[in-house]
Amino acid sequence: MGRWHDAARDKRLTYPSPSADTVSLTRRAEWQALCKHAKEIRPRHLRDLFAADPARGEWLNAEAAGLYMDYAKQRVDRETMRLLLALAAACGLEERIAAMFRGDRLNTTEDRATLHVALRAPVHAQFLVDGKNVVPEVHGVLNHMAKFSRRVRHGDWKGYTGKPIRAVVNIGIGGSSLGPEMAYEALRRYGLRDMTFRFVANVDGTDFIEATADLDPAETLFIVCSKTFTTQETLANAHAARDWCLRALGDEAAIGRHFVAVSTNAAGVTAFGIDPANMFGFWDWVGGRYSMGSAIGLSTMLAIGAENFHRMLAGFHAMDEHFRKTPLADNLPVLMGLLAIWNTNFLEVSTAAVLPYAQSLKRFPAYLQQLAMESNGKHVTVDGRPVDYDTGAIFWGEVGTSGQHSFYQLIHQGSRLVSCDFIGFCQAAHPLGRQHDFLMANMFAQSEALAFGMTADEAKSSGMPVPLVPHRTFEGNRPSTTLLARRLDPTTLGALVALYEHSVFVQGAIWNIDSFDQWGVELGKTLAGRIPQAFAAAEGDEDSDHDSSTRTLLRRYLALR
Ligand code: F6P
Repeated sequence: MGRWHDAARDKRLTYPSPSADTVSLTRRAEWQALCKHAKEIRPRHLRDLFAADPARGEWLNAEAAGLYMDYAKQRVDRETMRLLLALAAACGLEERIAAMFRGDRLNTTEDRATLHVALRAPVHAQFLVDGKNVVPEVHGVLNHMAKFSRRVRHGDWKGYTGKPIRAVVNIGIGGSSLGPEMAYEALRRYGLRDMTFRFVANVDGTDFIEATADLDPAETLFIVCSKTFTTQETLANAHAARDWCLRALGDEAAIGRHFVAVSTNAAGVTAFGIDPANMFGFWDWVGGRYSMGSAIGLSTMLAIGAENFHRMLAGFHAMDEHFRKTPLADNLPVLMGLLAIWNTNFLEVSTAAVLPYAQSLKRFPAYLQQLAMESNGKHVTVDGRPVDYDTGAIFWGEVGTSGQHSFYQLIHQGSRLVSCDFIGFCQAAHPLGRQHDFLMANMFAQSEALAFGMTADEAKSSGMPVPLVPHRTFEGNRPSTTLLARRLDPTTLGALVALYEHSVFVQGAIWNIDSFDQWGVELGKTLAGRIPQAFAAAEGDEDSDHDSSTRTLLRRYLALR
């Protein structure tokens, strides 16, 4: 069976050279064609689609960088894919991909390049920012990280009292915590069992207190991660850590042995009191949520070692190269991104569930929430025009099989469609009897049940009481994609993260939005900065200029705290 996109070539599709910012997305002929097609295909059940072409599971798939992606249980046919690819071409996707790798300032509102792919480039590669090859700097930082990591892991880096480091506490939030924490959990089997790693993000004192309650300050290293070194939560926790360390060790000189920093802001690091020699830098062309391959991943390197960290970078790079070079029709991030467009904008599927059947990926949904929702939760196009279509879907998820005992009821029989990404590995991280077979059997079964359901007749034929039949009927026709890899190792994790990074990029390119800024987080921060004055006003019984709801809440809080 020829690959489905031969048909597309047979039609000798000539993709117009697009200029993405001149035509509104929904007025494009390609978008209109998809709207028309959606009306035709929406009523069709996956049962019908498989009946019409039983072999569709053999061609609605793609493979790259060790990842096999089956999307035959998505509600698409050949024509759907052809039309999505035509939309991608009309939106100039290939040019935007080339522009990212070229170092163009695609983060237009902050006037920055978005060149996180340079973080995982081989040492002789060339990636330019403002005409300068940044790869030598990238490898300079990686070498600095590796030297430090070896000293800590081998016990040569001594704390203030001469003891080796036995605990590492990463202090950061958002992209300065979610990636490192996810990678640590994902790759624990590759990590040092005699070192403790903790991740403190929340300004709620509980986070810091609980994370350090059982640690010995003399054996603890803090990594203060903050791209800007101005994030209030991180600075608050860094000062709490400093006080914790000084209370125990009693000398400012201890700071230099128990604190390092990861940031683009050397002045901020120095002002905090960390020796710039103990700072690991990165650059403004690396977005926070795209930074786990940078020095932000120092805790990852300390956990799994430099060699494994480089294997993770190699996995990122393999997917980068696949994304950069592969024709759209065989390009995993492109296919994943276009399927997200199809589900979001044409099947009105507003949420995407990420369901890793691997306990090690328990923080992967949380990581993807920032990557996807902080990138594509936007309401205007790159040139500031309000969008008249949905943008970023709501990402959520939980590992399987645990999620099956929590929210799968809604996914199977709820009134809303949820698009599911199942992620599984053929080899167990920790074999335990036949449990891995049981785990994977559940994953395969869930996507099958979602796709094909159980009709009322099938329910009746099982002999159940008639009044129960409606309750035990499964509509099915619920879309899912399955990703399958040999095992979860550093290389595969890198490729998996890069797949989602670039899928997010593809969606943003089609929606013509800036996937790399995050202005939406600023208002809350600004208002939070005004609340302390409102506390003072409320305590002095003066009226603050807040609304009556907030004012009443503040008063109650102050009365009860
Ligand atoms: O959530 C807003 C944000 O700026 C994220 O984009 C970023 O990852 C996080 O805060 C932390 O920022 P920083 O690394 O500068 O402390």
